[in-house]
Amino acid sequence: MDQALINGAYFFAAILFIFSLAGLSKQESAEHGNWYGIIGMAIALGATILSPSVTNIEYLLVAMLIGGAIGARLALKVEMTQMPELVAMLHSFVGLAAVAVGYNSFLEHGEISGIMLNIHLVEVFLGVFIGAVTFTGSIVAFGKLRGIISSSPLMLPQRHKMNLIAGIVSFALMVYFVKQEGHMIALIVMTVIALIFGWHLVASIGGADMPVVVSMLNSYSGWAAAAAGFMLGNDLLIVTGALVGSSGAILSYIMCRAMNRSFISVIAGGFGTVVSVNNDQDYGEHIETNAEEVAELLKNAKSVIITPGYGMAVAQAQYPVYEMTKKLRDKGVDVRFGIHPVAGRLPGHMNVLLAEAKVPYDIVLEMDEINDDFPETDVVLVIGANDTVNPSAAEDPNSPIAGMPVLEVWKAKHVVAFKRSMNPGYAGVQNPLFFKDNTSMLFGDAKDSVDNIAKAI
Ligand code: TAP
Repeated sequence: MDQALINGAYFFAAILFIFSLAGLSKQESAEHGNWYGIIGMAIALGATILSPSVTNIEYLLVAMLIGGAIGARLALKVEMTQMPELVAMLHSFVGLAAVAVGYNSFLEHGEISGIMLNIHLVEVFLGVFIGAVTFTGSIVAFGKLRGIISSSPLMLPQRHKMNLIAGIVSFALMVYFVKQEGHMIALIVMTVIALIFGWHLVASIGGADMPVVVSMLNSYSGWAAAAAGFMLGNDLLIVTGALVGSSGAILSYIMCRAMNRSFISVIAGGFGTVVSVNNDQDYGEHIETNAEEVAELLKNAKSVIITPGYGMAVAQAQYPVYEMTKKLRDKGVDVRFGIHPVAGRLPGHMNVLLAEAKVPYDIVLEMDEINDDFPETDVVLVIGANDTVNPSAAEDPNSPIAGMPVLEVWKAKHVVAFKRSMNPGYAGVQNPLFFKDNTSMLFGDAKDSVDNIAKAI
């Protein structure tokens, strides 16, 4: 295929990617956004395969077939709740690919010299550095999300100094690497440092900040891809990498603001986090209830707010939740949903589940839109949510989630919490909400509980 035609295809694909991101920013247009992305990627792959620089097309096709088969199998098998794990794993592949591209383009940089060689060497060095950090960082994020690695932050003594030294040594190695017009040992030493640095960076971030970490690694993987684009002289990879890199950074920033975390402190590996978990404290007695009592409470209520969390996703309770909602709305009860920005295990998790169950968008409100309405609400149903409704975030300055804005459900007249036990949520802290006088606990699998309530209504 002619190079001009390939450039045209790349340009068209880049525009489709921008449309895709714009579409994905709203629920109503998300499906279209997805299609723009799929078509853009198909065009990009087609143009790359047919470009004049590709000589052994059969190798490429075999690799694509194997990669595509593994990807399709994983995507079909993955549960919605495991999505962040899959995303973290995929980020690690991008990081590893950037390292491989870096080494390859260092070994085969062709006949360049002078300033062009220097620029190329800096591209290689930075590409390998970002790629290696993304690779191990994403593996740790995967391990933490899957529960193989402890979600509590790794607090090594002098950890910030170690990070700083790693950064300074890597920079010095880069200067040496360029001055020597490429030095393999310097590149290898930096790769090892970057691998350890990436591991340590994410290991020292606590479980409650993991959503930010996942989107931050998303951003890193974008920059790693952009660096690979520079090395390969592929404009589309540069544009796509920059889109992913900057959108990931913006998302991380928005999430930090939503959780009242300092962006710098999170990307610097939990800088300044003081964690004290005191789960031995006596919170008093909790009150238990049953499905019939909750059905009665709901029938007599004027206003109800449902705040779903990770447990609703695990139980796949969104369908019966909507059945129950319909029944209550038919009886004239005002039912709405309050969504915390980090409820569940990935941004927008709850919105996707509720949309899947066909809950109308206009009754699904963001935390900021609904938080002032709790004092006038008769009943709040906390379905499988825990950290996102924890009053200690607002009341206990020593809590690991202190300062994180939460859904202030405890201000309602009555709260019913659906869960299976008194175990803490993702951040590992106990929730005083469950011991308040206006809270009743409904124990059991959320789907069964909601089913029983819907039947009783
Ligand atoms: P969590 O704090 O994780 O609490 C989930 C609750 O659901 C638990 O109390 C659990 O209690 C209950 N549960 C689990 N399975 C259940 C089932 N089958 N039926 C009924 N209840 C069930 O959830 P959340 O309030 O949604 O908060 C999210 C947390 O995840 C935050 O700490 C957030 O930082 C973190 N996180 C979020 C993201 C993003 S981007 N959203 C990514 C990673 C981490 P039992 O075990 O007693 O049933």
